[in-house]
Amino acid sequence: MSIDLQAEHVGKQYGGQLAVKDLSFTVERGSFFSILGPSGCGKTTLLRMIAGFLTPDTGQIQIGEKAMNGVPPNRRPVNMVFQHLALFPMMSVGENVGYGLARRGLPRAEIAKRVGAMLERVSLPGMQDKRVDQLSGGQRQRVAIARSLVLEPTLLLLDEPLGALDLKLREHMKIELKQLQADFGTTFVYITHDQSEALVLSDHVAVMNAGSFEQLGTPQQLYYEPQTPFVAGFVGANNRLKGRAISEQEGLLAFTTEQGLTMHARTMGRIDHGQAIEAFVRPEAVSLARHAAELPAGYPSHAGQVQSLLFDGANSAALLRESSTRTEFRIALPQTGRFADLRIGETVAFSFDPQHAVCFAATGTSANAS
Ligand SMILES: Nc1ncnc2c1ncn2[C@@H]1O[C@H](COP(=O)(O)OP(=O)(O)O)[C@@H](O)[C@H]1O
Ligand SMILES: [Mg+2]
Repeated sequence: MSIDLQAEHVGKQYGGQLAVKDLSFTVERGSFFSILGPSGCGKTTLLRMIAGFLTPDTGQIQIGEKAMNGVPPNRRPVNMVFQHLALFPMMSVGENVGYGLARRGLPRAEIAKRVGAMLERVSLPGMQDKRVDQLSGGQRQRVAIARSLVLEPTLLLLDEPLGALDLKLREHMKIELKQLQADFGTTFVYITHDQSEALVLSDHVAVMNAGSFEQLGTPQQLYYEPQTPFVAGFVGANNRLKGRAISEQEGLLAFTTEQGLTMHARTMGRIDHGQAIEAFVRPEAVSLARHAAELPAGYPSHAGQVQSLLFDGANSAALLRESSTRTEFRIALPQTGRFADLRIGETVAFSFDPQHAVCFAATGTSANAS
């Protein structure tokens, strides 16, 4: 396994404020690596240090196993794609894609050949002579990526490249980006604040918060095995419950929520009796039924009143309040249409497997469910 990017103790501050704190990580050759975090957490600062536009205060960066200390951006085997793509509006598509090759002094015939082949691969065959302003938003983004990939960088750095596109196009470009990366085999380092983009696209994701990585893992690990309250709150949707620990048995913690509801969840890390906790229950981990007897056997069941129905096709959910304590829960509705006639105010039963809920000692810094 080769490593295309290695960061060791990389840190950066602006006027005494740490923007990136002592980060160490590696990115494998040919992988799609994302850095996911809220606005202001230091993603762009980190990417600019990798690209060479900013110098780290501490630590060092290696690309393709070469130390990059003092290497200027144009000497690094790296290209960058931005949210507001900087295509040259006065140049044709072909001139845009061939720009870097021309600067490298390649012969015109060779440039034309490579540009033609690249446009085919990004599904813009024969578009060399089009003007940039004749293209749609998605086509422009493909030109921007083609312009970078034609230079065969070791790393392609992408800074929220889909952020300026509308939702439908973003969904489409997600799939296209993933296919392009698989097709070219170029190592991608992708930054985004959108957890769905990170989950869909990546082999590995680092969840970043306030300049540090909270967790680095596969999308499945982040979703099923969040290691911190921040990750549990930021990746996927989650019901977040605050409460106090009562007792622990075989890795399951009994706790009481602030509203007085007793529940169980898998213990993550050490939690002492009486300690403040935060528990997370995914909407899609909760079962819903008209009557408690219809719920899967073996888990504590609760009654709740439907407060609102959020119909959104396959992502539909109901907001309930648990009957005795008024604790609010978001519960995913099954796609079978079994609850298509659910009404606001109706009383239903719900339960979840405590193994599918997680519980942490409270830190007070977790992200809100998104
Ligand atoms: N040139 C700068 N000078 C001072 N502070 C900056 C500068 N660039 C970014 N920051 C600050 O550093 C932090 C991280 O910013 P940034 O890396 O842009 O985050 P992100 O890309 O995750 O939104 C923020 O608090 C931001 O305000
Ligand atoms: Mg940014």
